[in-house]
Amino acid sequence: MSFLSNLRKRFDSKRVTLQLDDIQGLILRSRPEPYVGIHAMLHVDDAAGGRDLIGRLAGHVPSAEGWTEDMPAWMGVALSHAGLKALGLPDDSLKSFPLAFQQGMAARAAQLRDEGENEPETWEEAYQNESCHIALSIFAQSDAELQRVKANAMAELEQATGVRLMGTHEFGADKEAKNPFGYRDSISQPTVAGAGVEPNPGDERAIAAGEFILGEDSEAGSPVAMPSPDVLGRNGSFVVLRKYESCVGAFNDFLREHGSDEEAQDRLGAKMFGRWRSGAPLNMSPDQDDEALGADRDKNNDFDYSDDTKGLICPHSAHMRRMNPRGSKLTILTDQNIHRIIRRSSTFGPKWSRDMTTSDDTGDRGLFFIFISARAFDTIEFLQQEWINRGNFLDLGEERDPVVGLHEQPGRFTIPDQPVRRRVNGVTTFNRLRGGEYMFMPSISALKWIGEGSWLRG
Ligand code: HEM
Repeated sequence: MSFLSNLRKRFDSKRVTLQLDDIQGLILRSRPEPYVGIHAMLHVDDAAGGRDLIGRLAGHVPSAEGWTEDMPAWMGVALSHAGLKALGLPDDSLKSFPLAFQQGMAARAAQLRDEGENEPETWEEAYQNESCHIALSIFAQSDAELQRVKANAMAELEQATGVRLMGTHEFGADKEAKNPFGYRDSISQPTVAGAGVEPNPGDERAIAAGEFILGEDSEAGSPVAMPSPDVLGRNGSFVVLRKYESCVGAFNDFLREHGSDEEAQDRLGAKMFGRWRSGAPLNMSPDQDDEALGADRDKNNDFDYSDDTKGLICPHSAHMRRMNPRGSKLTILTDQNIHRIIRRSSTFGPKWSRDMTTSDDTGDRGLFFIFISARAFDTIEFLQQEWINRGNFLDLGEERDPVVGLHEQPGRFTIPDQPVRRRVNGVTTFNRLRGGEYMFMPSISALKWIGEGSWLRG
């Protein structure tokens, strides 16, 4: 069953409790399949010109009303703290944002463990010196639709005074929605309570809306702290944007070195991700890939790790199991539901091919890792420190995530097995960070409020 028809089947407007007409559509809408799109990074030199642009862009941002219906293309707008400052927001409002957001991603490198080859000094220019003030993202079903929405946004930009385009980045994937390593992604997403859909069969329960939408009750029973004034914060969310260069040649070489034939290489790759390339989870298809299962949204997330406590099917250290342990027993306890995130990542560069090696890797493939959460900064800093760049919570000492961990020294990947576990050495940084920023995705009414410079008129 296709992604959209699956969603529509689970939707009932009577269940909606959120103010969908005020929430940016991108928060709830998943990528189309196939998809194309563009991210554009803008810098504001003139506050009044910037505000005017935001006000006009607001007219092009669809809300989440009808978010389960087909839509050919949509745009989202997010702002960094430096951006809000450049737009002239009042001081008390600027100070009401979470400290990490006020400081920006580069300044949080220590908390994010963005060190060595991932340190901010190595990032692309668009992310240096808090340059990225406004991020526009367009997702579309076809190139023609992308060009149409992009032309509208660019026409608004051309009319704007004092706003510079720092860079654009195009992305896309075919209908199998595979990432640079050839794996289908964006499969497992949390169900947001109050958005109108029931969880998919086997999915975990719906998560309180306040984990994703500011002003709504969170898992703790009350809203998380919200920036002020109310019109600015309510129905907005926070966004983590991280651009990765995927070292596909090095990953292929690693699989070749440790797998005697293609079957063994594919098995090792699946153990590292937790799913086969089709998207079929190891825990539902332990021995080989299953294309039909991988493509079936009704079935491909219908599992947990309760029958696999020893990790004999899906290793504890697999990327996906680390990122959502689905009830696994952890050595260091934590509430897994407050670390759930809505992922809106996008892939760029040529499709994966098995033959590629390190020597023909031109560094033109990667992933814009984007996620949305009301606790986005606490969550990413927790994930980076504890679940990605450590293994203590799994009794694995300093072993890191084999897909997204930073490996300054070649690391190790442990595959539980009987009679003895297998340890695969030589894991390197398969995804290098090229830049990133902490962003705020305001509601539609907040975009208009900024556009009108309402606070300046008293
Ligand atoms: C940068 C390269 C990355 C690649 C290639 C990658 C790839 C994947 C793949 C193939 C899956 C399984 C399919 C799916 O459910 O989407 C997955 C799941 C997931 N990834 Fe990543 N990922 C990357 C980065 C990250 C980062 C940096 C984080 C978190 C900070 C993350 C968090 C997650 C989560 C939460 C899941 C879903 C787990 C579940 O619910 O079972 N990923 N990723």
